[in-house]
Amino acid sequence: MTAWLLDPEVLHLNHGSFGATPAVVLEAQQRIRTRIEANPTRFFLEGEYQERLDCTRHAVAQFVGADPAGLVFVSNATAGVNSVLRSLEPSLMPGDEILVTDHEYNACANAAVVTASRAGAVVTTVAVPFPLENRSEVVDAVLGAVTDRTRVLLIDAVTSATGLVMPVDELVAQLEPDVRVLVDAAHAPGMVDFDVTELGASYVTANCHKWMCSAKGAAFLWVRPDRRDGVHHAVVSHGCNGGWPSQGGHLHAQFDWTGTHDPSAWLTVSDALAAVEAMHPDGWPGVKAAIRELCLGGRDVLIEALGIDPAAPADMIGAIASVPLPPADHSGSAIFDPLMAALRERHGIEVPVFTWPAPPDRVLRISAHLYNRQSDYDRLAEALKAELR
Ligand SMILES: Cc1ncc(COP(=O)(O)O)c(C=O)c1O
Repeated sequence: MTAWLLDPEVLHLNHGSFGATPAVVLEAQQRIRTRIEANPTRFFLEGEYQERLDCTRHAVAQFVGADPAGLVFVSNATAGVNSVLRSLEPSLMPGDEILVTDHEYNACANAAVVTASRAGAVVTTVAVPFPLENRSEVVDAVLGAVTDRTRVLLIDAVTSATGLVMPVDELVAQLEPDVRVLVDAAHAPGMVDFDVTELGASYVTANCHKWMCSAKGAAFLWVRPDRRDGVHHAVVSHGCNGGWPSQGGHLHAQFDWTGTHDPSAWLTVSDALAAVEAMHPDGWPGVKAAIRELCLGGRDVLIEALGIDPAAPADMIGAIASVPLPPADHSGSAIFDPLMAALRERHGIEVPVFTWPAPPDRVLRISAHLYNRQSDYDRLAEALKAELR
């Protein structure tokens, strides 16, 4: 049995979009599903679900430096961002501002726009340079866009299309508590060192199904103690009037039960943490260092093949990295550029090519995980040279 179920006929350079899950984790997930199906009533109503959930919560909290009381599970980072923004709506006044960068993940930027429109507030989008030379360009751009009406900063810990490890620590230190910082850390845990308590933001949401390699549908939201009472899930359920017997206070009651669902991805996150840890002699620190080195090496191959400079300093790169490509010669406006399909169909390579920041400009984003080799990037470089000729 191989460690991953990835199709060996395809070169996988898109861990960034949906992650990949070790086979042993999917087996553990199947065991939970079988257990649920044996007696759903017993599983959900007689304590087993809550007990297993609390156990996994402790493991995830420990992995990201959180206290379990402030950590709840959601299905994905999109749901985490939506829940926080929906919770903030009553506190926003007409004319208040939600600040985002132009690197923000599209779905979450959309959530900010909807929240703002409900509250009569506005979304301000600040341009952050790319290519860029250092972290302070981000800090200066974001702080320069803060006004006395800025109430919330929504910022990615690692940006999506541009693959930048953002200086969220510096921004949080400058802005909290006057501006509430909502960190969309979809990519951070398992890719870079990430400690939510140390970070000190009001809200942090992150995926387990990306770099922690859990089954799909597992993510968490952590809320700082002083903000906990004001947060609820975007879906209102039994917990709102104490109808779900959660022991963990307001926050757990709001999120632990949002209606019947398959919780097997949540309940096997610890299996994923253990499986990936066992793949490197130095455990998780070794995994993170190895995949970053692989990614930086892959980026070097591409920038040499394309004859360009690095678009970002190495200290802003984790296990995904983006390179700007020559502008597209079509006028499409979709998120993904047609070159992505060409690389898949003609070269067997899955790698995202994003239209960014707007057509005709575009970037290609590589990823690195333990199933990748340095030669993968040589193969991509050859394919790119052929396609861009
Ligand atoms: C920065 C960022 N936020 C949020 C998401 C959304 O993740 P999900 O689809 O798991 O909600 C992504 C996905 O790639 C992302 O890159």
